[in-house]
Amino acid sequence: MSAPAGQSETIVILDFGSQYAQLIARRVRDSGVYSVLAHPDVTAGELRRLNPKGLIFTGGPASVYEQDAPKCRDELLDMGIPILGICYGMQIACRILGVDVRSTTSREFGRASMKILQPNGLLKNVPKDTTVWMSHGDQIQALNDDFEPLAATPTCPIAAVRHKKRPFYGVQFHPEVTHTPHGNEVFDNFLYEICGCSGLWKMGSFIESVVQDVQDKVGDEERVICGLSGGVDSSVLAAMLHKALGERLTCIFVDNGLLRMNEVGLVEQTFRGHFKIGLVTVHAEKDFLDALRGITDPQDKRRVIGHTFIEKFKEAAAGIPNAHYLAQGTLYPDVIESGHSLAGQAANIKLHHNVGGLPAELGFELIEPLRDLFKDEVRRAGELLGLPEKIVWRHPFPGPGLAVRCLGEVTRARLDILRQADVILMDEIAANNLYRKTAQTFAVLLPIRSVGVMGDGRTYENVVAIRSVDSSDFMTADWSRIPYDVLAKISNRIINEVRGVNRIVYDISSKPPATIEWE
Ligand code: XMP
Repeated sequence: MSAPAGQSETIVILDFGSQYAQLIARRVRDSGVYSVLAHPDVTAGELRRLNPKGLIFTGGPASVYEQDAPKCRDELLDMGIPILGICYGMQIACRILGVDVRSTTSREFGRASMKILQPNGLLKNVPKDTTVWMSHGDQIQALNDDFEPLAATPTCPIAAVRHKKRPFYGVQFHPEVTHTPHGNEVFDNFLYEICGCSGLWKMGSFIESVVQDVQDKVGDEERVICGLSGGVDSSVLAAMLHKALGERLTCIFVDNGLLRMNEVGLVEQTFRGHFKIGLVTVHAEKDFLDALRGITDPQDKRRVIGHTFIEKFKEAAAGIPNAHYLAQGTLYPDVIESGHSLAGQAANIKLHHNVGGLPAELGFELIEPLRDLFKDEVRRAGELLGLPEKIVWRHPFPGPGLAVRCLGEVTRARLDILRQADVILMDEIAANNLYRKTAQTFAVLLPIRSVGVMGDGRTYENVVAIRSVDSSDFMTADWSRIPYDVLAKISNRIINEVRGVNRIVYDISSKPPATIEWE
């Protein structure tokens, strides 16, 4: 681990297996301070090389008194660097500093009312009576004389603490989630008041540091290959790499036959025409559709598409000389939802074919500069890089493409129906000014047929579902409240204009418990 290029102020976040580790990193970056995640076992020596202004210890699923619970080294508390412990992170540090932590009968999950006892320092500007988000079964029993309590809830008398002799602060609640309305104040107080940060970090410095890192890593004679999908992530990645490498970047775009209407043309025109980036298009529709024949299980579809993609990609990559590196636009939600988080605790929800596996099979070293970012941060980077609005604000499109929106068997005929329905849907969404207001909108072809009546005759045809969600990070989402009149027009047009469809339904499920895609 080394200090990131160009970052003068860094906060290091020790991840004890929290679901929210990246949200914390994100909150810190939003406050203008660069942040990186580290393993809880990091040594004081390794940390010194990063020269951090402060440390944050995250929450985690374990109990501090369990045998195999993740621990940090005691020496970190002697470094003189300010530390903020959150939930488990507070408990582990307090335990090292001689405080007893035990399981409690009055566990707290969800919203809690909290009273501020010390309205300065860490809790400055937080209203005296406030709401916080709690999620704990253990808590501190009693403090020793070295500590001062800063806040309390009815069942957790020690909801925030300060050490009197060391720069250590702890909160039992979760300031990083939006359900803690004054969480930002807690982070700002820690970063500016306690750590003395100036808050000058911007996305622009992140881009500069990626450019610098890539230039340092890639030799003058070497080329980097970038898998381009036309989506915002790989587009931002390609623009960033182009800035670092110029002609030494080659993009490979696999037309898998599972793309939306006119997508190949748009990608070629944008990257080859506008950006003058070296682009190889692999026309592989037949290979993918042949491989998918007869397959209906969602995970099997993803697997087959993943394998075929690797095969086709490998063939194209073999023709590019001196290419040792492969760049991918993997984002943080892809990493965590594929069960590849730092602590390896997250459940594997879907097999994202762009996470893990690829580099080993292809024999390349991997470059994934967007791996710690959320979608809206990537969009900010895209704007700074001068990408056109049409690309920066494009709704996300999954790697396996329309295959996961064509439920049941994927055939050319069914894909054509789906593509036509999708074009009409997006046309109406744009015409009604809803494209930027919704995070992701698309059509799904269901694997059932329904009875209808057209003219005087009976029909027995396909059902199309409309999915539209509001979300900022795609980890959670709510269904969009599209006006009824717009839904009516969409339904009417699809049924009238697309042969083989006689019914439209609107998906009103949130994530969780549903996911955004249907497969
Ligand atoms: P879910 O359906 O898991 O989707 O709620 C969350 C976001 O990820 C996109 N998605 C994928 N993106 N490869 C990708 O690059 C995939 O395999 C994949 N599956 C889902 C989805 O469109 C949504 O934006």
